[in-house]
Amino acid sequence: MKKKLIAGNWKMNGSAAANDALVRAVIAGIADDSSCAVAVCVPAPYLAQVQMLRAGSALEVGAQDVSAHDKGAFTGEVSAAMLKEFGVRYVLVGHSERRQFHGETDVLVADKAKAALAQGITPIVCVGETLADREAGKTEEVVKRQMAAVIHTNGHCISEIVVAYEPVWAIGTGKTATPEQAQQVHALLRAQLTAATAHPDRISILYGGSMNAANAASLLAQPDIDGGLIGGASLKAPDFLQIIAAARAARV
Ligand code: 13P
Repeated sequence: MKKKLIAGNWKMNGSAAANDALVRAVIAGIADDSSCAVAVCVPAPYLAQVQMLRAGSALEVGAQDVSAHDKGAFTGEVSAAMLKEFGVRYVLVGHSERRQFHGETDVLVADKAKAALAQGITPIVCVGETLADREAGKTEEVVKRQMAAVIHTNGHCISEIVVAYEPVWAIGTGKTATPEQAQQVHALLRAQLTAATAHPDRISILYGGSMNAANAASLLAQPDIDGGLIGGASLKAPDFLQIIAAARAARV
């Protein structure tokens, strides 16, 4: 049975002191229970710190972005090989904040996923519709288009990625998709991925968007929700740990 994955996305938050306290509390909370995979995706300057703090624990480290290029004149970018040197296991790719504020296209997102896979780092590919898309009845069309680009570029490696369905209107708004709304999109993403791989058992689709201690259990109980990508609630150890507890309790 596939483990659920709970990944925190700290976004542009943290400080050396705050990270130290947060990571220590999370590690103490997960103890040696590895029934659910747990990761924190941290700002690049803190990768070394978190990598040191997590040593010997089940907590995995993730980054929040990666360059599509191997190396060269790309000021400000960080390559997958560099992330690898810091023990990075996951990298977020195509988060809606990158698509929105940095103009990342479906093709670039797909190329970034490929660059991560080439270094053995699991890309967590984020897809999701805006409120305008949803209201126009375009949810399915948008998420399928975003997913299709990644499938097209990554071919038979597609079962090695993790997908995160993050409806843009639910991110940081306190407005969560209902379990039924999320399940509906997860099911269509699973069908799309299943058609593209010989290893459908490896597909992992996380939900993200105002997931918290109170709503995690009902979301994680849905048959096609394999875990969560947590923003705000991952910055508070007790909240993050409650979501992890909900994932451990949920059926797989
Ligand atoms: P929130 O949990 O703060 O809504 O953020 C979700 C998210 O964007 C995770 O990547």
